[in-house]
Amino acid sequence: MNKSWVLHKRPSGYPKLEDFKLVESRQPELLEGEILIESKFLSLDPYMRGRMNDTKSYAPSVKLGDVMTGEAVGKVIKSRNRKIKEGYFVNAHIGWQEYGKIDGNLARIIDPDLAPISTSLGVLGMPGLTAYFGLLNICKPLPGDTVVVSAASGAVGGIVGQIAKIMGCKVIGIAGSEQKIDYCSSELNFDYVINYKKENVINKILEYAPHGVDVYFDNVGGEISDAIISNIAIGGRIAICGQISLYNLEEASMGPRMGGTLLINQASMQGFLVFQFKSQYQDGLIRLSEWVKNGSLEYKEDIIDGIENAPKAFIGMMNGNNFGKLLIRLDN
Ligand SMILES: NC(=O)c1ccc[n+]([C@@H]2O[C@H](COP(=O)([O-])OP(=O)(O)OC[C@H]3O[C@@H](n4cnc5c(N)ncnc54)[C@H](OP(=O)(O)O)[C@@H]3O)[C@@H](O)[C@H]2O)c1
Repeated sequence: MNKSWVLHKRPSGYPKLEDFKLVESRQPELLEGEILIESKFLSLDPYMRGRMNDTKSYAPSVKLGDVMTGEAVGKVIKSRNRKIKEGYFVNAHIGWQEYGKIDGNLARIIDPDLAPISTSLGVLGMPGLTAYFGLLNICKPLPGDTVVVSAASGAVGGIVGQIAKIMGCKVIGIAGSEQKIDYCSSELNFDYVINYKKENVINKILEYAPHGVDVYFDNVGGEISDAIISNIAIGGRIAICGQISLYNLEEASMGPRMGGTLLINQASMQGFLVFQFKSQYQDGLIRLSEWVKNGSLEYKEDIIDGIENAPKAFIGMMNGNNFGKLLIRLDN
């Protein structure tokens, strides 16, 4: 049998446990070319909140009654695909379930001897690639630049700050707890970290970035971003990666208030989606793997055991309870 979490109700505001339902079904039969994956880790990511809405976006919404969308890494236990053999480990979009089938051509083969398989969902997967391409291709950091990253201890933010350090930049992180602040300063070696729940972000940015912020990697939007962008440097670059502070608002927030600041500082702001760099993923993964191997890139995983706990963990992430890349480990 196969346990899956399906979307039961569309959330209004913050998601609630009642919005999800655990169902059991038989393991699916395979068509020619397909593989059956026994999931070992499920990835929980902020973008999934958007897929629970019935609104137009860059990807289709999850339909009511459908399995919650998401990437997983697991073992191939049946294969009708010539390239993917039983026993291989693969990463694929099979959603929040114990067993999932997919066209083998859509799965990425993972070598478990190179790195723990869970990293294919984090530092050596979508979040790592988001940090890599968003920072290097959109923000184009130069040695000596002051780089600010929000959600700084998270799956994307932690990697952004470390790559900026590798590039010779001064890094200021923004995070929401003392534990996260300590981690960013002592383990990731960020130059400064601001606790946005306790400190005045505008004053701290003026203190730590007296010549302005050259690069802002925005993971959160809202008031934090307002505060940072109001101190953007001349020629500053802003990458809009995520807006998690807005994902659960029931009413649209106020429009951008930083037009004047961008104008007088000739600064630019650009939204991006990691998929736009798909053709370069292999190059990004090679570079990220080298940095992990030579110790210049640390990564942190927040692993919760048991598929039963997926909705609770996901809701927790929307409240900042996760500390590092949030994963569900299955005991298959
Ligand atoms: N553009 C893309 O292709 C792409 C790809 C991947 C991810 N993203 C975006 O990148 C961002 C980070 O994703 P992630 O996977 O690395 O998640 P994450 O940072 O590991 O987890 C989310 C974190 O966001 C912070 N947060 C939650 N609610 C907040 C609020 N109201 N205000 C400020 N911060 C809040 C919390 O940290 P604190 O405790 O520090 O507040 C929480 O731990 C998200 O916005 C996500 O949607 C975009």
